[in-house]
Amino acid sequence: MSTDKPIPQHVAIIMDGNGRWAKQRGLDRSEGHIAGVESIRTTLKAALRHGVRQLTFYAFSTENWGRPQAEVEALMELLCRSIINETPELKKQGVRVQIIGERSRFSERVQYYLAQIEQETAASEKLTMVLALNYSSRDELRRAMQQIGREVAEGHLQPEAIDEQTIAAHLDTAGMPDPDLVIRTSGEQRLSNFLMWQSAYAEFYFPEVLWPDFSEEEFARALEVYAKRDRRFGLVK
Ligand code: IPE
Ligand code: IPE
Ligand code: MG
Repeated sequence: MSTDKPIPQHVAIIMDGNGRWAKQRGLDRSEGHIAGVESIRTTLKAALRHGVRQLTFYAFSTENWGRPQAEVEALMELLCRSIINETPELKKQGVRVQIIGERSRFSERVQYYLAQIEQETAASEKLTMVLALNYSSRDELRRAMQQIGREVAEGHLQPEAIDEQTIAAHLDTAGMPDPDLVIRTSGEQRLSNFLMWQSAYAEFYFPEVLWPDFSEEEFARALEVYAKRDRRFGLVK
């Protein structure tokens, strides 16, 4: 797509509204999550077409374990099934998948599929799709602090030498660009513990649409909104 508008390099998405979408239709919440997978597919295609290089999806927060057991189980099943179904197409499209979040809390089976999709798509270079799973910013920072603390205790790192780069390098997102644009669907306007460090200078966009109804047009609209923003990064322009 040829355009001289600024395109965000990294778009991060808080996919919200699956439950409400299902409820509106008298369906089980899990049906909303199934419909939500289709929106991921649609968004990925749109992002590839627009030349976005990284998409991060908030798929399961550390807090989401507190949901009813049946919903958590349905989400884990959907995750495994989606990995099996989507991996060949993702490879074909040149999409690399990376996981952020603490994965030891997942079952062996889920961990196997997470490792599988990362390995299978490792050589893809067109777009990086990051799935945030058992992720929260505070937990990510806690784990980073523990690791930094260990390095200090072992004498490998001087406390005075800890700078912003040191912290960023110990986060799950080490080596990834910060999000330029954070989208949260369903009209909620909060971060819910998502990429708090990384979003320091992100632009935010909160469309009313529920995640299962998110479309190529909605994605294009988000990019339009982004292109009109004036990013100053604390400077005078
Ligand atoms: C987002 O949709 C998906 C996950 C958190 C896994 P929700 O399930 O939060 O949908 P609502 O907010 O209840 O509508
Ligand atoms: C945030 O959505 C987490 C994900 C999208 C995975 P939630 O629906 O869990 O967040 P709250 O409870 O509305 O803040
Ligand atoms: Mg929600």
